[in-house]
Amino acid sequence: MRRGLAAGNWKMNGTAASLGEVEVLKTAHPAPAVDILICPPATLLERLSSVASGSAIATGGQDCHPEKAGAHTGDIAAGMIADAGGSHAIVGHSERRADHHETDAIVRAKAEAALAAGLVAVICLGESLDQRESDQTLDVIGAQLAGSLPDGLTGANAVIAYEPIWAIGTGKIPTIEQITEVHDFIRAELVARFGAEGEAIRVLYGGSVKPSNAAEIFAVANVDGALVGGASLKAEDFSPIIAALE
Ligand code: G3P
Repeated sequence: MRRGLAAGNWKMNGTAASLGEVEVLKTAHPAPAVDILICPPATLLERLSSVASGSAIATGGQDCHPEKAGAHTGDIAAGMIADAGGSHAIVGHSERRADHHETDAIVRAKAEAALAAGLVAVICLGESLDQRESDQTLDVIGAQLAGSLPDGLTGANAVIAYEPIWAIGTGKIPTIEQITEVHDFIRAELVARFGAEGEAIRVLYGGSVKPSNAAEIFAVANVDGALVGGASLKAEDFSPIIAALE
C-alpha cells in the first residue's frame, strides 16, 4: 500500500512572509496520514526547513544540477539542497524543460545527482496540448519515462509526477478517464522496468489541483497524491488538499 504524498511546488513565489503558511500547516496537520512536501524557491529552503523541522512536513528543491559543484553560475547542486535541510528534489518540471531546454538525458542526469546526494527524486513528465490532441500522449510519456528515469529507482528514492502541460496553471484538468489511463500506463511501465519497486514508486498527478477537485483525482487507483503549484502557496488551499488525500 503506497502512502499518499501531497507535494507543493512554490515555483518562483514566496518570501520570508510565506513561512507563516508553513506554521499554519504544521498546526493543522500535526500527525498526517499522508506525507507532506514543500519545495520553496532556493532562497527559502533553509529557513523553511528550519520552520518545518520536527513536523511532518518535508522540504525539497525545485531543481538540481547534475554535477556536485563547480562553475555553474546560478545553479544549485543536489548536495546543497541536502545541506539546506531538504530531502527531495523536483527534476524535469515542464517549465524547466521548456525554459531551460532540459532534455530527457539532462533530467536523468539530474535525477541521478539527486539520488547520489541521498535525496528523493521527484521526476516530472507530461504531454503538451498538441501532443494530447494528436493522440500521442502515451507515446510521449513512454519516451519520457524511458529517457528521464535512472536505473535503480525504488519506492524510497523516487516519485513520478504526471503533469499535463496544458493543465498547469490553467484551471483545466484532464478527465478522470484520461488521468486513469496515463497513471495506469505509468504504473505498468514502472513495474516492467523496476519490478516490485515499480509498485512502490508513488505517482502523483499535477496540474490545476484545487481543494474542489482533489478528492475525485485522489480516488483514481494509481494516483498516489498530487504535485500542487498555485494551490500550495496558501495553507487555506493546501490544507484541504492534504485532508482530501488522508
Ligand atoms: O508542479 C506543480 C505544477 O506544475 C502544477 O501547477 O499551479 O497548476 O497547480 P498548478
